[in-house]
Amino acid sequence: MRVLISGANGLLGQHLVQSRSQEFEILGIIRSKNLTGIRVECETRELDLTQFSEVIQVLDTFAPEVIIHTAAEGRVDAVQERIDEFRTLNVKLPSLLSKYAKNSGAQIVHLSSNAVFGGRAESYSDYSGLDPINDYGVLKAEAERSVIEQNPGALIIRPILMYGWPQPSGRQNPVTSWIANLREGKKIRVVDDVWTEPLAAWDCAEAIWCALDTDMSGPLNVSGGVKMSLLEFAHKVASVFELDSSLIEPASSGDFPTLAPRPGSTSFDLKRLTEELRFHPLSPLEGLEKLKHDEPAMGR
Ligand SMILES: NC(=O)c1ccc[n+]([C@@H]2O[C@H](COP(=O)([O-])OP(=O)(O)OC[C@H]3O[C@@H](n4cnc5c(N)ncnc54)[C@H](OP(=O)(O)O)[C@@H]3O)[C@@H](O)[C@H]2O)c1
Repeated sequence: MRVLISGANGLLGQHLVQSRSQEFEILGIIRSKNLTGIRVECETRELDLTQFSEVIQVLDTFAPEVIIHTAAEGRVDAVQERIDEFRTLNVKLPSLLSKYAKNSGAQIVHLSSNAVFGGRAESYSDYSGLDPINDYGVLKAEAERSVIEQNPGALIIRPILMYGWPQPSGRQNPVTSWIANLREGKKIRVVDDVWTEPLAAWDCAEAIWCALDTDMSGPLNVSGGVKMSLLEFAHKVASVFELDSSLIEPASSGDFPTLAPRPGSTSFDLKRLTEELRFHPLSPLEGLEKLKHDEPAMGR
């Protein structure tokens, strides 16, 4: 099977490449011109995905049977108040890929986010209504609607706070930046009023392969299944990595007024993941232990 993966050097993309079935022919799309230290274990093509005519050329040549679209501007604060600037990448591109997949008979997997939800006490189901509260979430919600409109058979994956070792030049995630700071003996301030369900990036990749195996379509919420505040999570990271937890200072969202608003509390009921796919993600503790175990293999 020919599978095109956009963002192949990103956090999720690299795990998708690593965990693919050996029978698959993978083409990874990467943007970076400077590839120093980057390891992508598949054939790659450098491409700025906002250049749509080049995107179509690559698609026509490779003729993928599956498109897994992970690439996006994922920095929530970078997108805030710059919604028009990022609409091409975060909405028009997935819409175009979805239409292409519909016309060519390929399966499309689009990476959305928990940010399509605004945060509330009860869990969100796979089919809950979308109510984003920041511009990144607004674009992800627009993209979901457009992808499904173009192609009702599309699979929409909604991960939540993913962690894992990024590529050397890749975007840090809270876990890796907490570890780096604590190792240098720096204090970190972590909010205790944002509740989430941290997800290991490799589990998200496995869930996607699993969903593709069953020809699943529609929205799929994916999380680590255990709800905790960011502060609690930071303490768990310090404990597993044997770092000084006295360097972690509690804060509240109001202490960071320049940042985009975050959903206060997001949890998923994981019905489709656990009942339809029978996929059971690692708990944050199990995930962090694996992260620690894998650190040498990631060349750190
Ligand atoms: N990480 C999370 O906690 C999280 C949570 C919910 C949803 N998501 C979503 O899940 C998906 C994957 O996330 P991730 O953490 O793996 O993201 P990531 O590590 O930031 O990777 C994103 C990838 O997209 C590529 N990209 C961005 N703009 C591009 C362009 N114009 N042309 C070509 N490539 C481009 C980046 O290339 P460069 O390396 O060159 O920048 C990078 O490889 C994203 O859609 C994100 O919004 C992530």
